[in-house]
Amino acid sequence: MDNPEQGQAEMGTRDLSGDALTREVLACFAGAEPARFREVVQSLVRHLHAFAREVNLTEEEWLAGIEFLTRTGQMCSDQRQEFILLSDTLGLSMQVVGINHPAAGGSTESTVFGPFFVPNSPRYRNGDNLANGAPGEPCFVSGQVRSATTGESLGGAQLEIWQADDEGLYDVQRANLPAPQGRGQLETDAAGRFWFWTVKPVPYPIPYDGPVGELLAAARRSPMRPAHIHFRVSAAGYRPVTTHVFVSGDPYLDSDAVFGVKESLIAPFERHEPGTAPDGTAQRQPFYTMRYDFALLPTA
Ligand code: BEZ
Ligand code: FE
Repeated sequence: MDNPEQGQAEMGTRDLSGDALTREVLACFAGAEPARFREVVQSLVRHLHAFAREVNLTEEEWLAGIEFLTRTGQMCSDQRQEFILLSDTLGLSMQVVGINHPAAGGSTESTVFGPFFVPNSPRYRNGDNLANGAPGEPCFVSGQVRSATTGESLGGAQLEIWQADDEGLYDVQRANLPAPQGRGQLETDAAGRFWFWTVKPVPYPIPYDGPVGELLAAARRSPMRPAHIHFRVSAAGYRPVTTHVFVSGDPYLDSDAVFGVKESLIAPFERHEPGTAPDGTAQRQPFYTMRYDFALLPTA
C-alpha cells in the first residue's frame, strides 16, 4: 500500500508490522500538541518507516546507522557542530534555506550559515582591517546596502562578516589566538556604503576528521568549499540575509561540499599591483578588490 494512512487504524499495539505498524505509530502522535509539532513528528515517522521499507534495511545496517549518529553526537562540542556538518553535506541545510528564503523580489540570495559564526564579534569602522593579523593577501571589500523594492540606500545597516584565512582556517579553529581574526561587525554610512580590508579568501575543506569525513570518503566526495566571505546583513524594517560572496573562477564552485553556491553570489576579486587602493591608501604589495551590493526586502 502506498499510503499507510489509507487503511484502517489498528486497535492497540499488538502484532503490528508494515503499514499497520506505521498507522499505529502515527495514531500514537495524533494528540500531540501543538499542531505543528504533530505535523512534523508524524511526517518524520512516515518518512522513516518508508525509508526502512524502501531499502529493506537490515538490522546490521540500522545498527551501523545508530553508531554513526552516536559518533556524530560525541564529536560535538562548544567548538564543533558535527550535526550541522552532517545536515550541510546531505544538502538538508540548503533545502531549509530554500524553503525559508526563496529567491524573491530582487533580494540578495541566502545560503548556508555554516558552523563558524561567532556572536558578538568585534565592532569595526569602515576602512578598518578585519583580518586583524590573519595570514593572507590584502583584499579591499566595498559595496552598498539597498532596499530591494525601492532601491533606496540603507544607512545604518549592520553587516557581520566572517571568513577563513589563507590557510583555510577560521580563527576558532586555531588554538590560543589572543583576539578574533577575519570576523567583525560594521555599519553602513548614511549612503548605505561599507568598506573594509581583509585577506583574500581561499578554498578550504570542511572539517573531515570525524564521522562526516568518513561519510564523504565512503562516497568518494571532496570536502572542499570554494573560497568565500560570509555576510549577515540586516537593517531595521528589513528581512536579514545570511549569505556568502564567492570568488569567481574558484575551482570548487561546481562541487561545493555543502551545495551552497548560487550564481548571483559569485563576484570577481581583482588583483592589483602595488599602488593606491580605492580608499586612497598606498599599498606596497599586490592587493585585491571586490565590490558587492546587497539588497534587502522590507518586512511588511
Ligand atoms: C562554512 O562556510 O563556514 C561552512 C559551511 C558548512 C559547513 C562547513 C563550513
Ligand atoms: Fe565558510
